[in-house]
Amino acid sequence: MNNTIHQPEWLDNAVFYEIYPQSFNDTNADGIGDINGITEKLDYIQELGCTAIWLNPCFKSPFGDAGYDVEDYYTVAPRYGTNEDLVRLFNKAHKRGMHVILDLVPGHTAVTHEWFKQSMKAQRNEFTDRYVWTDSIWEEPQGMGCIRGISDRDGSCAVNFFSHQPALNYGFYKPERPWQQPMDAPGPVATREALKDIMRFWLSAGCDGFRVDMAGSLVKHDEDSKGTIALWQNIRAFLDEEFPDAAMISEWGEPDKSIIGGFHMDFLLHFGPSHYNDLFRCAEPYFSKRGKGSAKEFVEAYKKNYDKTNGKGLICIPSGNHDMDRLARTLDLDELRVAFAFLLSMPGAPFIYYGDEIGMRYVEGLTSVEGGYGRTGSRSPMQWNKGLNAGFSSAPKSKLYIQQDESPDRPDAESQTADETSLRSEVKRLIALRMSNPALQSKGKIEFISDGYPLVYKRSCESQSIAVVINPSAQSAIVPGISGRVIYTVGGASAEGGAVTVQGCSAAFIEL
Ligand code: NOJ
Repeated sequence: MNNTIHQPEWLDNAVFYEIYPQSFNDTNADGIGDINGITEKLDYIQELGCTAIWLNPCFKSPFGDAGYDVEDYYTVAPRYGTNEDLVRLFNKAHKRGMHVILDLVPGHTAVTHEWFKQSMKAQRNEFTDRYVWTDSIWEEPQGMGCIRGISDRDGSCAVNFFSHQPALNYGFYKPERPWQQPMDAPGPVATREALKDIMRFWLSAGCDGFRVDMAGSLVKHDEDSKGTIALWQNIRAFLDEEFPDAAMISEWGEPDKSIIGGFHMDFLLHFGPSHYNDLFRCAEPYFSKRGKGSAKEFVEAYKKNYDKTNGKGLICIPSGNHDMDRLARTLDLDELRVAFAFLLSMPGAPFIYYGDEIGMRYVEGLTSVEGGYGRTGSRSPMQWNKGLNAGFSSAPKSKLYIQQDESPDRPDAESQTADETSLRSEVKRLIALRMSNPALQSKGKIEFISDGYPLVYKRSCESQSIAVVINPSAQSAIVPGISGRVIYTVGGASAEGGAVTVQGCSAAFIEL
């Protein structure tokens, strides 16, 4: 397999905006966001400077895991609207030169999916091998958890995440028990082909690619991921043939593996060995004035992955997502500005989680909604303005999908759009800076110069080199050995006599 896969050109300067559909914008007053609500806000997203959208699952579901338990991959959940609404969103986005990727959940379905209903039957049928089943109710699939005692079929079905999410069967890399099927057995092959059909359906309808849920765990007993990589290479061949411009990003967290598998991009995740959370979400995050440490561990881990993937695919750093704490839970406003200076000047496509651009807060003390648990506080409805329900919905407050931040000073998009000094305006300027300087875009190279306070790195492409100096600490600092023109600063900074002076909690961009 050729390692350098075709990259859709639009990824070169893409900035993604992640939308959690239930919490974005409600146009039919049922308290839950909808697809038309997203279409209505394309102006807002584009004005911020984002060029693409990642939409969390919006398909029919019993919503035991907020839609990551899919009941029907081919139908938009009625609470969000119709397939036609989604196609309209694709078309409207394309007219603006924007792109929309959907969330593909290949590892499991809901128990209410027709495939699973069929698979639970005692009589053999087309879906008998669609999921990972043991062949006796008394045998559990080791280390995987299981659903059992609810089917006529004699067997236990492995689960992939929550215990109501049966694991789809892509086979075992090293089958050891009779019920563990090899990857090339008819059941696993049929599952893989069914996945391609789903992708084909939405790509033909106008979607621009997929964020793939738990992409690294599809083949079981696959210690080095060789089986899962081979599976994705097979899907890559299908995409190359039929949809070469579909963008693929994995929730995997091991970019060296996912990119060999044929993904264009992989996320740095809040779990795993990336040290991403040390930067933003811990007692003394690097990006805070109280941070004491250095970014060394993060930089080391990043460099390792970067060296393995440079020129082949992109590593993407999100501001947050629907699974992690809001950035504003640990960082104050000044710190958020500096964190965004970093997030928007790293290689790979940046991902902004809806509301992070205005510093939306984590809503404390909420009861879990739809399997959110501790994640629920990061999923509260978008705050658009100072009106009823912060402009999210005209439903009675008690009907809102999740309770909103009730603080009187909660941030909102309208006020911040009008205020040049707001976080949103800062984010907008930083995106514009990225757009007008190719060295700062996805493929611009990075070289780290220092990983303490300040963090210093050089971004470069053929036509340009930019030094980025990020100083989250409360103390000012002088960085020698940099001479050039200051093209942007967050907080105060200046370059003189071959040295850059950055104030406490600031960032500087110097064209060399
Ligand atoms: C990762 C998703 O981001 C998360 O929200 C979900 O609960 C699990 N995968 C299971 O699909």
